[in-house]
Formats: sequence, structure tokens, C-alpha cells
Amino acid sequence: MGTQPYYGPDFGLLQKQDPELAQVLLDELDRVRGGLQLIASENFASPAVLAALGSTLTNKYAEGYPGRRYYGGCEVVDRAERLAIDRAKKLFNAEHANVQPHSGASANLAAYAALLQPGDTMLAMALPHGGHLTHGSKVNFSGRWFDVVSYGVRRDTELIDYDEVRDLALRHQPKLIVCGATSYPRLIDFSFFRGIADEVGAWLLADVAHPIGLMAGGAIPSAVPYADVVTFTTHKALRGPRGGAILCTEELAKKIDRAVFPFVQGGPLMHAVAAKAVAFGEAMRPEFADYANRVIVNARALAEALTGEGMRAVSGGTDTHLALIDLRDVGVSGAEAELRCAAAGITLNRNVIPYDPEPASITSGIRVGTPCVTTQGMGPQELKEVGMLVTRAVRHPGKAAEVRERVAALLAIHRPYLSEY
Ligand SMILES: Cc1ncc(COP(=O)(O)O)c(C=O)c1O
Repeated sequence: MGTQPYYGPDFGLLQKQDPELAQVLLDELDRVRGGLQLIASENFASPAVLAALGSTLTNKYAEGYPGRRYYGGCEVVDRAERLAIDRAKKLFNAEHANVQPHSGASANLAAYAALLQPGDTMLAMALPHGGHLTHGSKVNFSGRWFDVVSYGVRRDTELIDYDEVRDLALRHQPKLIVCGATSYPRLIDFSFFRGIADEVGAWLLADVAHPIGLMAGGAIPSAVPYADVVTFTTHKALRGPRGGAILCTEELAKKIDRAVFPFVQGGPLMHAVAAKAVAFGEAMRPEFADYANRVIVNARALAEALTGEGMRAVSGGTDTHLALIDLRDVGVSGAEAELRCAAAGITLNRNVIPYDPEPASITSGIRVGTPCVTTQGMGPQELKEVGMLVTRAVRHPGKAAEVRERVAALLAIHRPYLSEY
């Protein structure tokens, strides 16, 4: 045992050795501290997560799984992966967990590889209605390699058209049904999807990359009791490191593990696996349940504030951490709104709305989310003000400086990375 613990990250050393890159890190910290981060898929990982990420575990090759590696010297990193697996299983009450996927897209690739052959039929949510690229887009492997049938939301309610899901499933007899989305503000009826999957003899995959943190905190119902396979990302509402993971039934455990390695990935990123273990540990604490609930309360407050200012929330509001705003009545495109908000110190993304007449590069909407601002300690009162500031930035580009000042005042109280959340 060495007498000097070597933690790894030493910013002073980086500044000395590579000032150019060190400056990028400082500038990024300034950027997040200098503006409101409303991107629904982002969060601020805790300092403990960042410490694990910046550790020497990045050096270790560990192809395989704990106790069954293709490299020597894995006995220590095995402990990190076992902790991550055990915590994920406990946190989500899952029979099996694979914590190696490098990202949400890699998790989906592995899950499809475990369940499908090229040319098989899968049913998933259409990208323009809130689905993800990996749910069958033509520009993604999923759309190229599988025969994809897509469902969407109803024009009148902007909620998933469950009748259409059932009709399409009965007509096309998919081998896999995917539920889950990237810009759907409402709860998904997993029990309905389970029923349809059983009716047509399909596997059910829930891609809960977005709301997994809310499920971890018990703030919304979990997909785990219903789906054969659950894929997710660890860096969104869950507040962990950038990465992915898969939960599944014992029946599918071997297939999923073999699909992740050696089918789609090589050596796992052991520093990221360790950081996932830290994040799962944090998510088991009672404070995290409180956090997850506050994320939703804040999203509702933000959606209500925006609606009150004449911005229409798709589907009338939100049950989750995000809201989708239709800007057509405001007469500003999503792309232009994104730019105007950026000028006012507010970072958010343009987003297609269901039945959007504009292409994805322009869009008629914006997506806003509350994981970051909630991590910073903001509450519904602040989110009301944020809604007003977003509206002002979008409607009155000439007032950007004024909005920026109000943003700075909010951030002076709720600054990221000032405390150990
Ligand atoms: C529903 C869904 N699935 C998969 C992904 C992909 O995750 P990643 O960007 O980590 O590959 C995302 C990312 O936004 C997502 O929203």
C-alpha cells in the first residue's frame, strides 16, 4: 500500500502542462455558471461522481464481466462493477443489470442485438413525435437494419395514440415493441404496452433514458415491472456520469450480457462504471427522492409560467422533468428562439413538436427541462421567474441584456458547483 493516496485529477498540474486545454475546462465552468441550463437531457453530476470519473480506473482493460475477465489484474475493478450492478438491481428492483454500455445509443444497439436479427420488425415511437434516433430513424442503424413500424401521438390530445399502437402491433406482428421517448412530457402507460406485447408475442423494451432518475427517486412509476428490457442513460435526470445501462429479466441476462460484450463493445470504461456505482448510491438516498419530486414540481411550475405568458405547452403540460413548447402562436421558430435565449443567457434546445410543419433544423418548438436548475437548488418560485425570462427572451430580443441581468441575479444565489450536492 502506498503511503501517498493518489487521487488523480490535479487541475493545477493540467494548467501547468496544458494551459490551452485547462482554459477550455475553465471556460465551460464559466459558461454553465453564467447561464441557465434548461436542456432537459443534462444535469450536473456530483463532485463524488466526477472524482470517480477522473480516477486511475480509466487505465484498466477489463473485457468481460466481474470474475470472468479476459485480462489479468481485474480483481479491484471487479469490485467497482459488482457495486454498480448490485446497486442498480436494488435501486430499480431489477433481476439483472448490465452497467457497461458506453451511452444510451449503445445500450439500445446491444438490446436490439440481443432480441432481433437484421430484417426483423420492431414497433417504436416516430422521431418527429418524440421518439429517439435509435427507435428506427432512417439515418440510424436501427432504421437501416430493421423493418421499423412507427406509432405517434394523437393530433387532438398530443398523447400517445394507444389505439394506433395496438392496431399496428396486431397488423405487423413486431418481434419487439419499444416504448419510451426523448421529448414526451407525459407518463407512458407501461402496463398497456405490456398487454399489447403479450397479445402479439413481442418483447417489450422500455427506453427510459430520460425519466430514469425520476423512477429512481420514486417520483413516477417504474418501467421495470413491465418491460423485458429497460435501457437508460446515467447522465440525465439520474445525475450520474455520461453513459448507459440495461436492466432485464433473469431470462434475458445472458443474451444481454453477450450482446454488450463481445457483440457491440470492447473493454468497458471502468472509471465510468465506478462513477455509475457512485451515482446509483446517491440515488438510493432519501434526498434523491426529494430531488426527483422537486424536478417534477419545478417542471410543472415552469410549464405553467410559460403557458401563463401565452406559450402553449404540448399536451397541456407535463408529468415529468420536461415540457415541450409550441411557438407557432408566438411567431418565432424553435431555431430562432434557441438563439434569442442563448443571447439572454438561457441554454435550451429547439425541438420538433408533433405534426410540426417545420423541418428538424428549424422546428416550431423548444424543449425545456428542470434537472439542472433543481440540482442548483431552485424551486417553483424561481421557475416561475425563469418562465417569464424565457418568454421575454423569445418575444423581445432587444431585451436580451435585461434578461441576462435577471438570470445573473438568479445564478448568484443558485450557482452550480458551489456545494456538494
Ligand atoms: C430516449 C433516448 N434514448 C437514447 C438516447 C441516447 O443516449 P446517448 O446520447 O447517451 O447515446 C437518448 C438521448 O437523448 C434518448 O433520449
